[in-house]
Amino acid sequence: MTSRPPVPDEAREVFGERWQLAASYADLLATEGVTRGLIGPREAPRLWERHLFNCAALVELLAQDAEVCDIGSGAGLPGLVLAIARPDLRLTLVEPLLRRTTFLREAVERLALTNVTVVRDRAENLPSSFGCDVVTSRAVAPLPKLLSWSLPLLRPGGSMLALKGTSAADELASARNDLARWRVASAEAREIPAIGGRATVIVVKKRESTRLGWAPTKGRSR
Ligand SMILES: C[S@@+](CC[C@H](N)C(=O)[O-])C[C@H]1O[C@@H](n2cnc3c(N)ncnc32)[C@H](O)[C@@H]1O
Repeated sequence: MTSRPPVPDEAREVFGERWQLAASYADLLATEGVTRGLIGPREAPRLWERHLFNCAALVELLAQDAEVCDIGSGAGLPGLVLAIARPDLRLTLVEPLLRRTTFLREAVERLALTNVTVVRDRAENLPSSFGCDVVTSRAVAPLPKLLSWSLPLLRPGGSMLALKGTSAADELASARNDLARWRVASAEAREIPAIGGRATVIVVKKRESTRLGWAPTKGRSR
């Protein structure tokens, strides 16, 4: 038996007039998300604090009408949260596992989200013509892998936003050589305010000029 999490007061603050949509998504995660093995049963009571609010913290880094690709969406974190919080965004959720893309498509339909496309594939298999303004991810892969999956999907000047835990600064330091090889414009770990704490995100910007190169000089792992 799974229980529906109560809606905290802060949901209205974070999701504005779309808070009920966020509540329906939280219900879906707490019920079918758990029974279908997409979310651990212990996560159900802490869905808002640990998952929805943490993911929603990214909205302040997203420009109006941005095209966002969320890689390794799983049950829709952060992709569906962003689509709910910001109807101006266009989201592509990239997830290789059928069980998860089935859930994502059903969630999109049930929540009547018109700004989401679900793609069943591995991020590294997407065509080079694929271009978006921002690539998001949470708990998907170590930074060197994320760079090699995310940067090719970005338009020049676009940003990769990877939600990470407290190890973000260490991950950045250890990936120094990868960042240099990809010749990124900038890379930093940022703490952004989130309800119930702070969210840590690694922000990597791709160069404006593709001629100066975004592809690594050697050792490219695609
Ligand atoms: C630990 S889960 C995290 C899911 C979600 N982002 C979250 O925070 O709950 C990692 C997800 O990345 C997906 N994944 C693994 N390799 C991938 C790849 N090469 N491209 C895209 N997604 C991938 C997995 O199928 C899985 O759904």
